[in-house]
This record gives sequence, structure tokens and C-alpha cells, in this order.
Amino acid sequence: MVSRVIPVDEFDLVIFGGTGDLARRKILPALFRRFCAGQMERGARIIGAARSEMDNEGYREFVREALREFGTGRACEEGTLEGFCKTLSYITVDARGTDGWSALAAMMKPGVVRAFYFSVGPSLFGDLAERLHQYGMADADSRIVVEKPFGRDLATARALNDTLALHFDESQIYRIDHYLGKETVQNLMAVRFGNMLFEPLWNAQYVDHIQITVAETVGVGGRGEYYDRSGAMRDMVQNHLMQLLCLIAMEPPAKFDPDAVRDEKLKVIRALDPVPPEDIVRGQYLAETDDPDKPGYLAHAENPRSKTESFIAMRLAISNWRWKGTPFYLRTGKRLKARTSEIAVVFKDTPHSIFGPEAGRHRNILTIRLQPNEGMELGVTIKEPGPGGMRLIDVPLDMSFAEALGPEAEEVPDAYERLIMDVIRGNQTLFMRGDEVEAAWAWTDPLIEGWEARGDAPVPYESGSSGPEDALMLMHRDGRRWREIRA
Ligand SMILES: NC(=O)c1ccc[n+]([C@@H]2O[C@H](COP(=O)([O-])OP(=O)(O)OC[C@H]3O[C@@H](n4cnc5c(N)ncnc54)[C@H](OP(=O)(O)O)[C@@H]3O)[C@@H](O)[C@H]2O)c1
Repeated sequence: MVSRVIPVDEFDLVIFGGTGDLARRKILPALFRRFCAGQMERGARIIGAARSEMDNEGYREFVREALREFGTGRACEEGTLEGFCKTLSYITVDARGTDGWSALAAMMKPGVVRAFYFSVGPSLFGDLAERLHQYGMADADSRIVVEKPFGRDLATARALNDTLALHFDESQIYRIDHYLGKETVQNLMAVRFGNMLFEPLWNAQYVDHIQITVAETVGVGGRGEYYDRSGAMRDMVQNHLMQLLCLIAMEPPAKFDPDAVRDEKLKVIRALDPVPPEDIVRGQYLAETDDPDKPGYLAHAENPRSKTESFIAMRLAISNWRWKGTPFYLRTGKRLKARTSEIAVVFKDTPHSIFGPEAGRHRNILTIRLQPNEGMELGVTIKEPGPGGMRLIDVPLDMSFAEALGPEAEEVPDAYERLIMDVIRGNQTLFMRGDEVEAAWAWTDPLIEGWEARGDAPVPYESGSSGPEDALMLMHRDGRRWREIRA
């Protein structure tokens, strides 16, 4: 059932930050898996670039090590790893200097797709764009891939967009949000717009509310200093949760084409109402009482008075014809009871129950699971089997990909695999456009400014819990409940 692999065009991919954590954990393993799947044409080249001194063989050894540590995800034939290593080379360059740049320019093959992955801190994006231009590598065949964080507010995002726009057209800029590369997220579009079943019900008349949860069990750990300048709102809501919200709430685009899809997502962000303070709950995790290795947020943040949130829950309203009156509840946090990401579309009660009050209240819920076990589940109400009269129960119609696809499920590409191949194919549908990122910040900024001006402090919550009590109350007061956080 897995679709056949269509090889992408020959390419040169330069990974700036090719020795960094993201390259080791995600980018290189993703490329290796696509190589194993036969998606890379002979002649495809991957060039690691960073300041560290290393030769090609040194880099290949670095990559072998990374693949050993971060797994290939599938068995590869003998010799495949060595075949992959032959595509690799390395060049020493400094984004802020001139060393290595002429040599890199000389390496570029004419007439092939040329992609530059900016897997470095955002403060270097401008330097890299400038150098690529200066050394003649920013031509019409070039694409750049940039990682989050894309700015920390509207002003910085706009400045970054303006800097990149000096040398690259918007059609050459691929802003990655790996959530968009997930199989289920794309399936969400297929389910919504490829079936007659859901779309007629996909509105305020039939949907009671929508919940989006992205829960992590880890704390901020070694990223404490970075995270403390960011917090859950900037780190997760402005990008990942916002993207999920857009896909679930957008109008059907006229066609599945990058700008048509992104135009519709942008309209959702622009239709979001400002959120009053009483509809936002921010939290900070406490130490795990019986585990000294799991200190509280403040110990990690290194600022004992930090007011940065490691958890946020919000109630959002979208002011348009489709969604007026249907609230969207978002929550994300660290050190919660399970690692899970899901969207739940909770449909309204039937207008009248013919089964009487003893049949209980039953609702259809469409759950879209992003992790773990990507898949979808539709809860339907049926009669409880047996002779006990007309008692109703809810049963799931499960469509977990592992089951649907059988033993080949493991071959479904992960988010980075799909997104990097999309860069080579020149398909921007699953990448954020500059105006989308700016609109998301324009909505986020006043909320952050609001709690900063009021001096609001996040409320503490137990590690391993579902977050602060106040977050539960956010839904209880509307007569609703969060779904349980479970893996
Ligand atoms: N790690 C993740 O899981 C993750 C997830 C999402 C987004 N991101 C984003 O991805 C980017 C990279 O993150 P990372 O975790 O890989 O960072 P990292 O481990 O600190 O790696 C940074 C890389 O940049 C190189 N570098 C630093 N200064 C340079 C310069 N002046 N010129 C050329 N290369 C330079 C470093 O190598 P040298 O020191 O040898 O130059 C290294 O290869 C960041 O923007 C981060 O926010 C990371």
C-alpha cells in the first residue's frame, strides 16, 4: 500500500551546521533513509559545512557515527551505508568570514537543483544569505531552508524576512515546521477535502469544540537558557500549534497548490480574535519529588525569578462564518504525564435522544494522533452487544497507519524525509510563507506583551501531571473537559 518512490532530480544540498545536533539527529538520518528508499538519483551530493576543521573522510565517519546513534529506522542492504557516504563531502566555512566560500562556490555543479539548509542559529541566517549572494550561489536554481525559531516577535521576524528577501525570492525560501511534514497532518487535508463525509459537518453548527494538545514528558534540560527567553508560547504555540489550527480550521483551497493552501491558512490566523487574559493559563513545572535528576523549571532556567511558562493552555475564537461559536482549546507543556500530540474534533450532541436519559450522553469525536502511533480514530456510538436492552457505547473506528499499511508502515517517510525531498522537488505547500509567520507573530505579540505588562506569573504544576488545575478549569467553566493525556 505504500506509494512507489519517485526519485527526485539530481541535487547539491549544502547543510550549513552540518556538524550540529539537528544535522546529526534529524537531517542526515532522514537523507540516509531516502537514499535507502532509492529516492536520490545517482549524482546527488550532500555537503556538510561548518567552521570545524575536517576532511571528507572525517565527515563520513562523523555521519556513520550519527547514523549508528540515531538509527536508520530500517534495515539497509550491505554496502548501502558506504554508497550513501560516497554522496557526502565537507567544507570548512565560517558564515561570518570569507574562508572557504570560494571553494564552496567552485564545488557547485551547474544545472542541478541547489539547496542550502541553514541548520545554524538564526543570528547567522543573514550572514549566510549575504555570503551566498556574494559568492554567486544565490541564483534562480538555489533554494534555502530555514529552521525555527523564525524571529521572536513580529519585528524580528519581519527583519529576518526582509534580510532573506534581499537575495532570495519568496519562492526560494523554505521555512520548515516539521509538524507539517507528518503523515497525519497531510492526511488531515486528505480526510477533510477528499471525502464527502466530514466537510459538511465541519463547522460551528455541528462541531462543539476542538482540542489541540501537544504534551511532552521532558523538561527543558540543557536548553534552559534558550527556553527561558522563549517559553511555550513562542516555542510551540506561535508555530506548531498555530499550523495545526490553520489546517483544521481553514476553508477548502481551490486546489492543492502551495499558495492556494497557504492563502487559506493565512485567513485563519487573521480571523483569530485577541485572547482575553482569563482565557490563558500559563504554568511552570515543579521538581519531581522523588527524582533528584528532575529538578523544577526554575533550576533549569537558571533564573530563580523567571516568569517564563513551560505550559500554556488557551481558549481561542475564530471570527468567521464557519467557526463563530466553536471554541478551540490549545494546550502544550513540558514534564506532563505522557508524550502525545493530538487534535480532537468533538461533535455536538444529537439534537434529541430517542433512547432516553439512561442511554447516557454520547458524542462523536474524531481524533487525529500525531504521536505516538500516527493515525486517526473516529468514535461512533453503537448498541452495546448482548440482550441487555438498548444500551449505548462508544467504539472507535481506528485507522492507525501501522495497521492500515501492514508491515510496510515503517517505510512511511518521517517529517524531515518528506520535507527535504519537497525542497528538492520545489514544492512549498508544507512550508510556511513569510506573511503567515508574520501574521502568527502579529497575533502572538499582544498576548505576550499583555502578561508581561501585568506582571503575570505562571502557576506551578506537578511534574508528571496534566498541567495546572487552572487549565482544567478553563474548560470546566464552559461545561467541557480536556481529553486525558495518555501515550
Ligand atoms: N536540535 C534540534 O533538535 C532543533 C530542532 C528545531 C530547530 N533547531 C534549530 O536548528 C538550528 C541548528 O540547531 P542545532 O541544535 O543543530 O545547533 P548546534 O548543535 O549548536 O549546531 C550549530 C551548527 O552551526 C555551526 N556553526 C556555528 N557557527 C557557525 C559559523 N559562524 N559559521 C558556520 N557554521 C557555524 C556549528 O558548527 P561549528 O561550531 O563547527 O561551526 C554547528 O554545526 C538552530 O536554529 C535551532 O534553533 C534545532
